[in-house]
Amino acid sequence: MARHIVIFDTTLRDGEQCPGASLTPQQKLEVAKQLARLGVDVIEGGFPIASPGDAQAVRMIAQAVKGPVIAALARSLPADIDAAAAALAPAKRRRIHVFLATSPIHRKFKLHKAEAEIVRQAVWAVGYAKKYAKDVEFSPEDASRTEPEFLFQVLEAVIKAGATTVNIPDTVGFAVPDQFGALIQGITEHVRNIDRAVISVHCHNDLGLSVPNSLAAITHGAGQVECTINGIGERAGNASLEEIVMTLKIRGDFYRATTGIDTTQIAKTSKLVSALTGIPVQPNKAIVGGNAFRHESGIHQDGMLKHRATYEIMRPELVGLGGSQLVLGKLSGRHAFAKRLGSLGVRLSPPELDRAFARFKVLADKKKEVFDEDLMAIVEEDLPAELETYKLAYVHTASGSDTVPTATIRLAKKGKLLQDAACGDGPVDACYKTIDRLTGLSPELVDYGLHAVTKGKDALGEVAVTLRHQGVEVTGRGTSTDVIEASAKAYLHAINKLISSTTRRSYLKRRQALHP
Ligand code: KIV
Ligand code: ZN
Repeated sequence: MARHIVIFDTTLRDGEQCPGASLTPQQKLEVAKQLARLGVDVIEGGFPIASPGDAQAVRMIAQAVKGPVIAALARSLPADIDAAAAALAPAKRRRIHVFLATSPIHRKFKLHKAEAEIVRQAVWAVGYAKKYAKDVEFSPEDASRTEPEFLFQVLEAVIKAGATTVNIPDTVGFAVPDQFGALIQGITEHVRNIDRAVISVHCHNDLGLSVPNSLAAITHGAGQVECTINGIGERAGNASLEEIVMTLKIRGDFYRATTGIDTTQIAKTSKLVSALTGIPVQPNKAIVGGNAFRHESGIHQDGMLKHRATYEIMRPELVGLGGSQLVLGKLSGRHAFAKRLGSLGVRLSPPELDRAFARFKVLADKKKEVFDEDLMAIVEEDLPAELETYKLAYVHTASGSDTVPTATIRLAKKGKLLQDAACGDGPVDACYKTIDRLTGLSPELVDYGLHAVTKGKDALGEVAVTLRHQGVEVTGRGTSTDVIEASAKAYLHAINKLISSTTRRSYLKRRQALHP
């Protein structure tokens, strides 16, 4: 039967120790609520003695978040434990997490304490925390660099004092998987009362081994892992929750262990933590990186189109993402190119496809990624030339400090003259409103630029505009010695392009319907 692994999330405590990641109490509460939806077993909300904000955050989480156990960190000192207990008081299920360093380096240089004193203080701290909570976790800080015999002695003593979880931190990310797994195995064999506590691990990522070390520990008997969303944390970070959880899920055949995590909440939680901490997720990060489910090489795309399992070990939907993406770039093949055109409603004959694919390769060499709009432009190059639906026949504007800016415009369309007038915020705006009325379109003006193309008072002015309409973006240009006229011409040029691009698309669709 699969063992249940307790997921102890420390994003709000160790994760927040990541440089620049500090969160307000309100933001911590928002993350904690999402962690509860994700299904973590324990939320470490903060280190209450460290700041009034942290104490407040733990208290708010303890009050509002139901379901997971709420934990708070404390050094093995009375004031720390009192502060943690006070902040946790409203929680229905609470845990006090006390720690004390045990390694020779910390004993000698940081604490200036002998082994016996460390044992005494650790036992005292667990006993003191027990007054406030049944659930007490003890962490011998820098456990992985502590002499194993001494570590076993400390663990046995704190379990005797009432610790219900003993956490083995690889505080400086020094451990390697085989050795760390053996250490956990050693604990199961040499700590005589270990059956009365859960073994937890807390791995840092200084050598990039936090996840492999955590997994090795699970294999050798750990029942809890401490981890953070996106792997954020002190220095190189902590073990990433999503990597551990998904490894246990995807490789359940090997680990025979499960978690209570709703994996479909992973992407949402990752995005929330990244947005609130301001720490971006690297694109190649496993599970939640932007590229984790994107395939670019032609060979891979071809395989994916034949059977997804050729190049994907998990479906993106499993972690709450929309779907895998075949990215069109210079390495993409014909199969993916034709498939994407198909999804855009375009099917080409073999010679047309050859020509379009050749143009695509030229473009892909220059551009990192080729988007759907680029593809449509590539296809449209083979179609009849651009249509000029409207011609500017007359433009007159009136404006001034006491005048409402007004434009009167006449357009020629297939030999017929159309005329209208409108007011606006200025003469150019009045022109654009009139053209909208005459053409029946009202595109968004994304950009407007004016510059002189010749010198002198009668310089030619050139106007460039960018318009967006129903997802299509086009540019238009117009020149004249009159900047209002140049503006109207540029706008009309762009409108004509919009109309011809719509006409071309419906031509492609019609043709496809006739020759499927
Ligand atoms: O890395 C560490 O040792 C810690 C402890 C306080 C658990 O974060
Ligand atoms: Zn840590």
